[in-house]
Amino acid sequence: MVLGVVLHAQGALAQPTGDRAAGRQLAGQCRTCHGIEGYAQIPIAPHIGGETVEYITHQLTAFRDGTREHEMMTIVARNLTDQQIADLAAWYSGHSITAEVTADPAGAPEVCTACHGVDGLHLIPDAPNLAGETNIYIDTQLKAFRTGKRVHEIMSPIAAEMTDEEIRAAADWYAGVKITIEQVD
Ligand code: HEC
Ligand code: HEC
Repeated sequence: MVLGVVLHAQGALAQPTGDRAAGRQLAGQCRTCHGIEGYAQIPIAPHIGGETVEYITHQLTAFRDGTREHEMMTIVARNLTDQQIADLAAWYSGHSITAEVTADPAGAPEVCTACHGVDGLHLIPDAPNLAGETNIYIDTQLKAFRTGKRVHEIMSPIAAEMTDEEIRAAADWYAGVKITIEQVD
């Protein structure tokens, strides 16, 4: 019990609490590509509305620190403070995403559903939603994990085993899910 309290206090120090109103202001810098609500506006950018605080914080920090690289996001994240990252995570995570599968659920990629769901809504907090992302985006990320350009203890070994055809099939499955993203009051 005592240890739990100590760890919790340290966690709170390390990670500032996000302010949604401040995050909404900052989201003005993101809207051309991710929209104000986190619904992507360009095919190579992912939907980020309704992702968890953990996932958004982790990815923005990775772009800032250079452990994940992308010509656009590396520049965007370069000057963000921990507080701004927390604010942006609070804003974008404060959205609800709903997904509708119209194809036969038996077609869902079996290896993925334990964490990403049949409908592409994450089932574990550190995994992102894949629902409704473009097949270009999903394909690019799986190939980045496969080549080692993007590294993750779970995804790297999974992608290493995938053929181009399997990558394409998984990308097409999740890209085919219809989504809506709404702000939660
Ligand atoms: C010029 C377009 C552009 C702008 C502006 C932009 N992004 Fe991005 N963002 C992208 C692209 C493209 C990717 C995909 C990067 C990749 O392929 O690895 C991305 C990826 C991300 C991811 C990773 C999501 C995931 O599912 O892994 C997060 C989080 C993110 N952006 C947040 C933001 C925030 C917050 C802002 C504003 C402060 C912002 N972005 C501004 C284009 C942009
Ligand atoms: C055991 C859990 C688990 C399984 C199984 C799994 N994933 Fe993941 N996936 C994750 C986690 C965790 C991340 C976040 C990686 C990170 O933080 O960079 C992720 C990230 C991804 C991303 C990046 C998404 C984004 O928004 O940038 C894609 C694409 C992806 N997974 C596709 C798949 C596919 C396709 C399968 C099946 C072939 C699969 N995953 C199986 C846990 C899993």
